[in-house]
Amino acid sequence: MDKFVILGGSPLKGTISVSGSKNAALPLMAAALLADAPVTITNIPLLKDIFTFNKVISVTGAGLSFDEDRRELTIDPTSLTSYEAPYEQVRKMRASFYMAGALLGAAGYARVSLPGGCAWGPRPVNLHLEGLTALGAEIEMDQGYVIARAPNGRLPGGTFELKPSSVGATVNLVLAAVRARKTSVIRNAAMEPDVVNLCDNLNRLGARIEGAGTPVITVEGVERLEGGRMDNTPDRIETGTFMIAAAMLPGSDLTLTHTLREDLGSFTETFARLNTGLDLAENTIRVRAADTIPPVSVETAIYPGFPTDLQAQWATMMTQAKGLSTITDHIYPDRFSYVPELNRLGADVRRNDNRATIYGKSHLKGASVMSTDLRASVSLVMAGMAAEGETEVLRVYHLDRGYEALEKKLNGVGAQIRRESE
Ligand code: EPZ
Repeated sequence: MDKFVILGGSPLKGTISVSGSKNAALPLMAAALLADAPVTITNIPLLKDIFTFNKVISVTGAGLSFDEDRRELTIDPTSLTSYEAPYEQVRKMRASFYMAGALLGAAGYARVSLPGGCAWGPRPVNLHLEGLTALGAEIEMDQGYVIARAPNGRLPGGTFELKPSSVGATVNLVLAAVRARKTSVIRNAAMEPDVVNLCDNLNRLGARIEGAGTPVITVEGVERLEGGRMDNTPDRIETGTFMIAAAMLPGSDLTLTHTLREDLGSFTETFARLNTGLDLAENTIRVRAADTIPPVSVETAIYPGFPTDLQAQWATMMTQAKGLSTITDHIYPDRFSYVPELNRLGADVRRNDNRATIYGKSHLKGASVMSTDLRASVSLVMAGMAAEGETEVLRVYHLDRGYEALEKKLNGVGAQIRRESE
């Protein structure tokens, strides 16, 4: 296992090119199986989760070739012969569960392992299963696997309301509905850019989806889906992560390119309360650190609210703010495994249920800290960059799942991070 050794105190100065979105790419990869000819997906990030999903897709017999230099992935669904997603792969990445909707939509049958939990909670899929049933699938459980069948090989379609709204369940139901016999309606649908990007790309291949980005998505089933090209969107969570890093490191002046401002939702308004220097263009964002950071409390919400995937990073920044601030996570109440690690670095963060209270400003001093999940890990890297002396962040494989070449990008703008084997 690898660790990062970080020498703190350097500002971030220069330009980082943001990679394609992990959470938007995974639905596109599953969606390619719905087509009747090869699909090429652009702007695919080089991440562990992408390579894991490539293995899941290859198990079905679909052709797959990844041009890593061009970041383009071509999937040929015409050689689909097996409709299974094995536990061995699904347990590594819960988004593999998208294979249920994709295989049901493509072949009227799916045998997919139930995904595991994660560091901060059970991560249930009840909404996925109830929704697929509402679309007419016959679902049974068999030794940790979900077996889903479409009567006479093609889902009828139907209506379902998500309670609570769920990104993954919205994706799975769209995938299952695209080639159904009739029209399907998904209520209280997720409005994340990941979902909008999926629907826009599917429509380019001949799907008939309306309402993406609103709480009601209507999918008129089609007989066939053309092959062609799908374009992935930039990673809004990577963008937000680097914006926060620049705001919290004194003297920073960081420009982010190849991003998409509109995907940030209300995050930009919240960020503007930090009174940093902030230039927001369509695909380029520039952040200049202010001399002091005001305490700004946040509460996570579904899009376009403050993303739960950025709350750990925001907490790290708030350790450098003068005064008291709180982070409340309404999506994942237990997503605070980074708190004891931040306190090891000298922060004063106190957790109570789904709220962390941060007493700043703390003088952080380097120590060894443990990564537990993707976004907690990056919050510890950011803390290490702000801390005096050397910080060791262990188990950075969590980072490699969701941040492409993180230390290369950060060292390219002045950070001092060494990757070493533990
Ligand atoms: C997606 O996970 C993202 N993953 C997560 O990002 C992100 O944190 C999350 O959405 C919320 O924005 C991918 O896109 C691959 P949900 P997902 O279903 O789809 C409950 C990262 O760091 N729920 O929107 O699994 C659930 O417990 C990852 O990149 C049910 O109760 O999230 C949660 O409280 C981490 N039953 C809420 O809904 C279900 O069947 C929202 O979860 C499904 C979800």
